[in-house]
Amino acid sequence: MHANTAISPTVDAPAAASLRNVTRVVRGRPTSDGAGVKLTRVIGQPALDMLDPFLMLDEFRSDQASDYIAGFPEHPHRGFETVTYMLAGRMRHGDNQGNSGLLTAGSVQWMTAGRGILHSEMPEQEDGLMWGFQLWVNLPAKDKMTAPRYQDIAPERIPEIELATGVSARVIAGEAGGVKGPVEAEATAAVYLDLRLEAGAAVEVPLPQGHNAFAYVYAGHARIGDGPTSELLRGDLGVLGSGDTVRIAAPEATRLILVAGKPFNEPVAKYGPFVMNTQQQIVQAVEDFRAGRF
Ligand code: CO
Repeated sequence: MHANTAISPTVDAPAAASLRNVTRVVRGRPTSDGAGVKLTRVIGQPALDMLDPFLMLDEFRSDQASDYIAGFPEHPHRGFETVTYMLAGRMRHGDNQGNSGLLTAGSVQWMTAGRGILHSEMPEQEDGLMWGFQLWVNLPAKDKMTAPRYQDIAPERIPEIELATGVSARVIAGEAGGVKGPVEAEATAAVYLDLRLEAGAAVEVPLPQGHNAFAYVYAGHARIGDGPTSELLRGDLGVLGSGDTVRIAAPEATRLILVAGKPFNEPVAKYGPFVMNTQQQIVQAVEDFRAGRF
């Protein structure tokens, strides 16, 4: 049991929820990637190297075309999944297998790179706001060399439900309020929710016990749990401690993503866009890429 659960148990009372508190607050740091796209790296930087199974979280948000127009020309990935969630703007995706698709506002692309893909992600707009997230989700050792797979989810396929008065959620992966999201993420049993809270609203969201979890506030201000670091401002990522439920209150209109996944507790060998278990596998990945075997 968590320390802050009910203190006056009665014999027949249902088990009280154990609240996940914020154990750490992390601010992203400005960086650039691809051919010079400005973004904020929240996971995958010195303050938070990874949060097993999550290897990286970037937020990209700009209405200055010069910040994003160069895009991400062809580059490889092996050994993990990239998850792109668009809030605003249009991004064209294409790969060396002839797959292509347009990511529009509200859509998600959950790409399993597996044994290797070569792809590009290029803005399909010359002005206006480009806003979204890219999350990297690790694969377990047994799945790292699996066949590449795309789950391209159009906005209308993502259920939007009311979780409480003034609280709505888009369920991208996992389950909330009895509704399942469209993404299949078997190895991590990932939960990915996009929450919108009106000023003064509050909600309790169950998350699988044992999953690592975080909340990232991208608009407004959230109060999560009741610990000493419960206040999250825009741009704050809160790492959530153990428990089975997260309690979120919004003093003002607030939007955040709430993400959880089963950790693998396996060794991680990272080299740029390759994430394997051993250095030897990284060397192999570089060789395979150079030899055109992706
Ligand atoms: Co990529």
